[in-house]
Amino acid sequence: MVLDIRGLRTYFFTYDGVVKALDGVTFNIRRGETIGLVGETGCGKSVTAFSVTKLIPDPPGRIMDGTILFKGANLLWGLDKEAKFKTLKKGRVKVSRRFRRIRQGQARMTAVRGGGISMIFQEPTSAMNPIFSISDQISEALMLHRGEVVIDGLLQASAGRHGRGLAADGARRLRAERTTEAGLSSGRIEEALDQLFKVARQNDQDTLRAAAEHLGDVAGLASLGTQAFYAVRGSWADPESRRPEIERAFRRLNMSQLQRRYLQRERALRTLARELQAVYLREMRNGKAEPLARRRITLRTWALRLRTFYFGLWGVRGHVRKPIRKETFWHAVRLLEGVRIANPVQVARGYPHELSGGMLQRVMIAMALSSDPELLIADEPTTALDVTIQAQILELMKNLKERVGTAIMLITHDLGVIAEVADRVAVMYAGNIVEIAPVKDLYLRPLHPYAQGLLASIPRMDDPTKPLESIPGSVPNLIYPPSGCRFHPRCPHAMPICKEVRPPMTVEGEGHQVACYLYHGPVAKG
Ligand SMILES: Nc1ncnc2c1ncn2[C@@H]1O[C@H](COP(=O)(O)OP(=O)(O)O)[C@@H](O)[C@H]1O
Ligand code: SF4
Ligand SMILES: [Mg+2]
Repeated sequence: MVLDIRGLRTYFFTYDGVVKALDGVTFNIRRGETIGLVGETGCGKSVTAFSVTKLIPDPPGRIMDGTILFKGANLLWGLDKEAKFKTLKKGRVKVSRRFRRIRQGQARMTAVRGGGISMIFQEPTSAMNPIFSISDQISEALMLHRGEVVIDGLLQASAGRHGRGLAADGARRLRAERTTEAGLSSGRIEEALDQLFKVARQNDQDTLRAAAEHLGDVAGLASLGTQAFYAVRGSWADPESRRPEIERAFRRLNMSQLQRRYLQRERALRTLARELQAVYLREMRNGKAEPLARRRITLRTWALRLRTFYFGLWGVRGHVRKPIRKETFWHAVRLLEGVRIANPVQVARGYPHELSGGMLQRVMIAMALSSDPELLIADEPTTALDVTIQAQILELMKNLKERVGTAIMLITHDLGVIAEVADRVAVMYAGNIVEIAPVKDLYLRPLHPYAQGLLASIPRMDDPTKPLESIPGSVPNLIYPPSGCRFHPRCPHAMPICKEVRPPMTVEGEGHQVACYLYHGPVAKG
C-alpha cells in the first residue's frame, strides 16, 4: 500500500463560517495503481490532493482529523499540536496556531516529498516562476531530489576513472593525445568522438544517439554525450565544424580545486539533509519524537556551513557553481526529452511565458518525475488543454506508470479520461467518497445515484439518440452541509432515513463499495 487515507477531515475557517470541505474521506492506493478521483467542481477533490501533500493554505484551512499513511509513515503525526481550537458563540471557532510546530510539520513534509510524492497542478502557469528559465526551474527540482547523483557523477568524472591527468586539463590533453596517441582513456574519447562525426554524416537519429551515448560513457559523464548529440544533430553535412564546441564542453571535467571542494561540501550537506529526513520519517513511522537526534544533525549542518562560508561570497559563488549549472542543464534536457518535447534545448533555455499550456504541462510532468516519485498526484492535468494534447499527456502518464511503476492519483471531472487510464475510480460528492470500484465495474454497474447521474451525463457514441441527463440542483454550500446523506436534496430515491443518518460504506462486490441506503451489503472496514 503506497497511500492509505482514513477518516480525513479538512475544514476552512472563513468569515462566513466553517467550510467542512472534507468529511471523513477514506481510501487507499496500491503500488503502481492508478486511481481516478471524480466528482463535480467543489466536491473536495483538490482539497484531498492538497491535504495529502500538506499544501492546504493555513490559515484559513486546517486538517482536523484522520490519518494519512504514506508507506507506513503517518503524515499527520504531530498535527494535533499545531493548533488549539476554542468554540465561541454562534458556532464560531477561534483557532490559535503554533507556528514553531507548523514549521516543524512543514519540514517533515519536505522530507516526505523528497522521499516520493510529486504533484502536478491544475494550472501549470501558476506553479512556475516567470522570472527563471525552464532549465533553472527543472534544475532546482532536480538538485533538491537527486543532487547526490549529479554531484557524484561530476566528482567521479573529474577525478576517478581517468586518473588525475585528465582531471587536471581535460580539453588540452584531449588535443595533445591526438598527436602522441599515448593516453589510454583520452585516446578512447578521441576515438568515440571520431565515430560520432562519422555517424553524424549518415543523418540517422538512432545511431547518432547511440554514438553520443558511447561518447558520454567513455568520458564518464553522460551529459557530455547529450551535449555532443545536440551539437552535431543539426549539422550532418559538416559535423566536424562542431568539434571546438564539444571540446569546450569537455572542459567541464577540468575543474578547479575550489570547484571540487564546493562539490564535496554540497555532497556533505546533502548527506546531512538525508539523515535529517530519515529521522523525520522514523518519527512519523514510530509516532515518537527524537528532538535530540534532529538537533545534532542541524548543528552539524550549521558547523559545515560556517566552515565553508566563503562559497557564498560574491564572485566565488558563480565560479564554484558553474559545473553544477552546466551539468543540470543537460540533465534538464534529458528530462524534457523524456516527456517528448521535440526541441528540448530551446525549451530549456526559454521562459515559462514563451511556452503553450500543453508544453508547460509537460515541463511540469518532467519536473514532477525528476525525483522518480512513488506517488504522483495529478490534479486535473488535462483540463486546461486541447483535446489532442490531452491525449498525448495521458499517453505520457500511462508510459511512466509502466516504466517507473509510479502509483497515480488522477483527479478530474472528466469520466472519459478516467476510463482511459485508471484502474479504480473513487466518486466524490460534497466532501465524501460515495462509491469506489474497479473502473469497468463502475461503468457497467454504477450503484450510487450520484455516480449513475454522472455517467448518464456523458455523451455516448454507441447510442447518440439517448438524451443527455443532468443531475438537478448543485453541490451544496459546505458551511451548512445537508444532514445524513449529503446527496439527499438532489437524490431521486431519497428516503426518510437518508435525511437523518449518514449511510455507512457497504461492500457490494469485489472491491466495490458504496455509501447509500439502497444497498445492504456488509459494512466496510476502515
Ligand atoms: N482556500 C479556501 N477557503 C475556503 N474554502 C475553500 C478553500 N479551498 C477550497 N475551499 C472549499 O472546499 C470545497 C472543495 O473545493 P475543491 O477541493 O477545490 O473542489 P474540486 O473538487 O473542484 O477540486 C469547496 O466547497 C470550496 O469552497
Ligand atoms: S443514501 Fe439515500 S439520499 Fe443518499 S444516495 Fe442513497 S438513496 Fe439517495
Ligand atoms: Mg479542483
